[in-house]
Amino acid sequence: MNVLLVGSGGREHAIAWKLAQSKDLAKLYIAPGNPGTAQCGENVPIGTDDSGKLLEFARQNNVGLVVVGPEDPLAAGLVDAFESAGIKAFGPSAKAAQLEADKAFAKQLMRSSSISTAEGRTFDRYEDAKAYIASRDEPVVVKAAGLAKGKGVYVCDDPSDGILAAEKVMCDRIFGSAGDTIVVEDKLLGEEASILAFVDGRNIYVMESSQDHKPIGEGDTGPNTGGMGAYSPAPVVTEELMDQITREVLVPMVDGMNRNGTPYKGMLYAGIMVTAGGPRVLEFNVRFGDPETQPILMRLKSDLLEVMLAVCDGTLDQVTLEWDPRPAVCVVMASGGYPDDYEKGKEITGLKEAEELDDVIVFHAGTKEQDGNILTNGGRVLGVTALGETIADAKTRAYQAVDIIGFEGAYCRRDIANKAIR
Ligand code: AMP
Ligand code: GLY
Repeated sequence: MNVLLVGSGGREHAIAWKLAQSKDLAKLYIAPGNPGTAQCGENVPIGTDDSGKLLEFARQNNVGLVVVGPEDPLAAGLVDAFESAGIKAFGPSAKAAQLEADKAFAKQLMRSSSISTAEGRTFDRYEDAKAYIASRDEPVVVKAAGLAKGKGVYVCDDPSDGILAAEKVMCDRIFGSAGDTIVVEDKLLGEEASILAFVDGRNIYVMESSQDHKPIGEGDTGPNTGGMGAYSPAPVVTEELMDQITREVLVPMVDGMNRNGTPYKGMLYAGIMVTAGGPRVLEFNVRFGDPETQPILMRLKSDLLEVMLAVCDGTLDQVTLEWDPRPAVCVVMASGGYPDDYEKGKEITGLKEAEELDDVIVFHAGTKEQDGNILTNGGRVLGVTALGETIADAKTRAYQAVDIIGFEGAYCRRDIANKAIR
């Protein structure tokens, strides 16, 4: 079968790498892809927002399955477009993708499905948000309701910072219309975990747990990013806790989506805070996590294409996933300055040498090829991922590889996976 994967980040390189190992794969196309995905299949220069050209390409190249990686094209209805044309597509419909694209919708659905989450209120007028935040003397979390590349959330220990955040989002409109509505939440305390599950509308298959590192700075300081590193499994997620999250979060959400008339199919990602009072949902995403996918898929032994087709066909109950018991750690190397402004076009050295290390894969995210050289081309540049006998071993191997790679201004956190080792 020919497969078209849509996207160009580190997550897509990991998905492409895994799909390329499938026994049923004939040809893999990636639109637009990056120099990493080019090692797994053929990159096609079509943007993720150009549904007309993507559809035409899929028809001309006998594509049997389309896999949509990022949230923007999902929210814009790319899966709906392919399905209307009779082509199987992995991912939720535009309506179901609101679960990520509209945090107010997600909050509402969590409430009506009795799913534990932080107390929160939704505002579409700055004055109301300001008055509410000012009336509280606890920390608040201010969230742009729309899509903001993982940067639309402000955890504010001081309410006056919360008011400033609301002003930036609603009045200065730094995320455009994505910030016309905000959600203001109580701050939750605990350890975070990412729970990713395949969903076929009815059946749920939960993958191994993982943990992301959202803030830019070591010790979880500074502004949030798309994610600076991840590991799998996350020791904080015991088998018992995973069962509880499945029962109290995933099952009611899939039921709730059906009741709401927006049935869910694809990858469902629950961002969880493990609090003293039990698991609470921070957010839902409607796609694979980035960078969680990199360590998770490095541990997946089963055929990814087979699972994705089972999701599309509604036969997920017939699938069993097998895992490499060894943990994996992914360290993101970013451009200096990210998540604010950064420069692009810096030559990356040491990629080949790093990849020669055993059980190490360097997933590309923001890179481009020029005259045979690989250059930086985004905020998050690489996801250096390693398997190890223990999580500490995987961490050591990942950083060994990181230390071989260089580019001007390269930045990474040095404490990825420390929480799992402590
Ligand atoms: P979200 O995109 O909603 O997951 O938020 C991004 C990050 O902000 C999360 O991964 C958490 O680190 C943090 N965060 C979000 N909501 C809360 C909350 N209610 N309490 C504490 N931290 C939060
Ligand atoms: N790593 C967080 C996300 O994918 O949204």
